[in-house]
Amino acid sequence: MMQVTTLVAAAFAVGVYAQAPTTMVTSASAANPTAPAAAAPAPAPAATPAAGNPFAGVKLFANPYYASEVNSIAVPSMEANPTARANVNAAKLAAEVPSFFWMDAQDKVKRIPEFVEAAKASGGKSAIQMVVYDLPDRDCSALASNGEFSIAEGGAEKYKGYIDSIKKEIEAAPDMQFILVVEPDSLGNLVTNMNVPKCQGAKDTYLELTDYAIKGLNLPNVAMYLDAGHAGWLGWPANLQPAADIYAKVYKDAGSPKAVRGLATNVANYNAFEAATCPSYAESNQNCDEKKYINAFAPLLKAAGFPAQFIVDTGRNGAQPTKQQAWGNWCNVIGTGFGVRPTSETNDPLVDGFVWIKPGGECDGTSNSTAPRFDSKCASPDALQPAPQAGQWFQAYFEQLVANANPKLE
Ligand SMILES: *[C@@H]1O[C@H](CO)[C@@H](O)[C@H](O)[C@H]1NC(C)=O
Repeated sequence: MMQVTTLVAAAFAVGVYAQAPTTMVTSASAANPTAPAAAAPAPAPAATPAAGNPFAGVKLFANPYYASEVNSIAVPSMEANPTARANVNAAKLAAEVPSFFWMDAQDKVKRIPEFVEAAKASGGKSAIQMVVYDLPDRDCSALASNGEFSIAEGGAEKYKGYIDSIKKEIEAAPDMQFILVVEPDSLGNLVTNMNVPKCQGAKDTYLELTDYAIKGLNLPNVAMYLDAGHAGWLGWPANLQPAADIYAKVYKDAGSPKAVRGLATNVANYNAFEAATCPSYAESNQNCDEKKYINAFAPLLKAAGFPAQFIVDTGRNGAQPTKQQAWGNWCNVIGTGFGVRPTSETNDPLVDGFVWIKPGGECDGTSNSTAPRFDSKCASPDALQPAPQAGQWFQAYFEQLVANANPKLE
C-alpha cells in the first residue's frame, strides 16, 4: 500500500503525550468509496453496537507521535505562511484526533510502553490503536512501501520476532485495550495480484505469517481487524467471493481466534462511506462506496465461516468526489480532505467504528522518479507533487486535508 510510516527525525523533537484521548461514541454511518459527492456521515443515533465492539466505552488514545508531527512540523510551517495561517487552529485540532500508529518497522515496537504509560495517565479506560505492518516482501504489487524484511534474507523468521515483540509489550499491559489493523494490502494482493511475480512468490509466506500473527496476538485485551482493501479493489462483484474464501480460510485455519473481530476497509484510501452518487471513476462497479462494499461482502464472509465486523478508515475521505482520475490511483491524491472523526456511531450494525487509520499528512510515496522506492502512481497527474518518501511528513498534503476537511475542524 501505499504507505509506510517513517517519521522524519524532527517529528520527535517535541515530546509528548499532551493529547487527551478522545472518547469514542458508539455507532454511525459515513461514506465513501470513490463515489462522487459523498455526504458527511449522518450521525443519527442508532442501535447500540453489537456486543463485543471493542470501541464501545473506551477513550481512543490520541497518539503523541502524530501529534508531534503536526505540532512540531506542520503548525510552525503554517504560522510562517500567510496563506496557510488561517488554518492553524484547525491543524491543531487534527493533532488531537486519535489516529493509528504504524509499526512499519521493528524499531517502532519499543514505543508501545510509552503509549501505555501516557494512556494510563490520561485516566479512564483507553484503547491504543496500531497497525501491524512489516511483512517480508511487503507491498508486493507496488513499490512505494517496500519494507525492511525480505523473504530471501530470512524475513520470515525476523517477522516472527517482530510479532513476538509486539505480543510481549501487549501482555505487559493487560488492562489496556489494543485495537490492531493487520497488514494492509497483503491478503488483498493474494486475491487479485497473483499475476505479479513478487506477490506470487510471497503468497505462502504471507499466509504463514498472517497465521502466526493472528494466533500470537490472540490475547484477551486485543481486537484485530485484517485489512480488506476497499470498494474499488475487493469490492468489485467478481472479487467478492474469492476474497471471502481467502479471509475465511485464513481465519478458520488459525482456529477462529477470538481476538479477530473482523476486517478494516478503506485503509489509506479515499472512498466515501456512503456516496450520494457513484463517482465517475467507480466505472461500472455498483459497490461504489464502502457501505455498499461491506454490505455485499459480509453475507459471503458469513457463509464461508467468518462472521466479520468492520472498521472503515475515514482519515482522508471527507471531500467527495476526489480528483482521482482512476479508482486505483492511491498515491497522495489531490482534492481530498480529512473525514469523519473517529466514532462508533456508524448507523450500520456491520461497522464497529469509523477510524483514522492513515495519519493524514504522512506521505504515501515519493514523486521523485530517480529516488529509491519510486512508484509511478506517485507521479500521476492526480497525485500532489513534489512528494517525499513514504511515511515522511508531507506538509502540502496535510494542508490540503485540513483545508478540505469535512466535517470542518473547528
Ligand atoms: C531525486 O532522487 C535522487 C536520488 O535519490 C536525488 O539525487 C535527487 O536529489 C532527488 N531530487 C529531488 C528534486 O529531490
